[in-house]
Amino acid sequence: MTGAVVSRQSSTQRKAVRGTASICFLAVSCSAVPDFFDFNRYNRRIAKVAPIRSRPARRSASASQKTDVRLGRIVRLLMDHAMVMVSGTKIGEEIGTGRSEVWRLIQQLRSLGVEVEGHPATGYQLRAVPDLLLADVLAPLVKGTLFSQIHHYYKIGSTNDAAMEAAAAGVPEGSVFLAEEQTTGKGRGGNQWHSARSSGIYCSTVLRPNLPPSEALILSLAAGLAVHSAIRGIDSRVNPDLKWPNDVLLDGKKFCGILTEMNAEATRVRHVVVGIGINVNQRKFPDDMRDTATSLLLVSGSEWSRVELTAALLKSLDREYRELLEKPGAHDSILRRFSELSSYVRGRKVRIEENGEFAGVTEGLDGRGFLQVRTPQGLRTVLSGTVRAV
Ligand code: BTN
Repeated sequence: MTGAVVSRQSSTQRKAVRGTASICFLAVSCSAVPDFFDFNRYNRRIAKVAPIRSRPARRSASASQKTDVRLGRIVRLLMDHAMVMVSGTKIGEEIGTGRSEVWRLIQQLRSLGVEVEGHPATGYQLRAVPDLLLADVLAPLVKGTLFSQIHHYYKIGSTNDAAMEAAAAGVPEGSVFLAEEQTTGKGRGGNQWHSARSSGIYCSTVLRPNLPPSEALILSLAAGLAVHSAIRGIDSRVNPDLKWPNDVLLDGKKFCGILTEMNAEATRVRHVVVGIGINVNQRKFPDDMRDTATSLLLVSGSEWSRVELTAALLKSLDREYRELLEKPGAHDSILRRFSELSSYVRGRKVRIEENGEFAGVTEGLDGRGFLQVRTPQGLRTVLSGTVRAV
């Protein structure tokens, strides 16, 4: 089984081997943890959208268009004074700059789609609360959770890449990387994640769990539960299905994928990045995804607040993670709840694409969270691969 996984390194893993720290990860991941990067056919194209700035984007994830934190502070200030015009001088005082710089920042906000009324002579007022995942907007909503350090990008290659780089450079546990748009969003199996501007949630969190690498799958399953509970908390009529290990479906189509990447030594995880992509307000998808992808808007018939959903997601993830580390029995609780909320875990006829294909009927999760499948040759444990219903 181990050899099979080794021979199936995804492009993501191949890339990871270049970094010293990641070599350990690769060695460990091949022998003890599942391949979280399996091929998925649901969300693999990148939308071509116009750049927000004329300056060409640099290719490194972390050198992408990181949002000027002053933009978030201006939005927060205008939200806090929603009924009045706020003068450029007052804004300038609050963020430590002059009126002309405030004007330039207001223009930038407008180019991001934020509806700000006014000009330097009249002051400024928000016409509508923007649904942008700005740090200053989200931070008060996730106060008290692990996720106090929020990094926001207009545009980035991949939030997972940025989070992995930052984690290796020592950012604290709980750092969150959010983007309005990803140009090279990564899915499992070296695939791409369709990441059009401001219609989805592209979120990566840095965790440093005190777990052996062989236990890391549980984090991915817990992230699926967090997505499920965040959505149900906002609209209990929406009923997602969890497809082992990392997909979340509605009406049999995928609207959320989770990509967990890890850097570990043989016995100890150094850091894990849990990357979550959610199709929220997409009205349509490219032709080749139409049959397999959906969004919360398409299923529920109305727009969702990405800010509200992201805050709910981070709160749920915080709860799951704390319980996992602190509460006896939390590991088993995750396995039990995942099984209850998934139509795939038990009694489902499936085809597994794992270094070749095999078919069988699912028979629950083992103690570490791997899927068990009954085949004519006996019970098989799926360590990686794509699960398809037949
Ligand atoms: C999958 O293939 O199902 C996993 C998709 C994971 C996509 C998310 S979007 C945020 C984070 N950044 C990435 O580049 N990928 C993950």
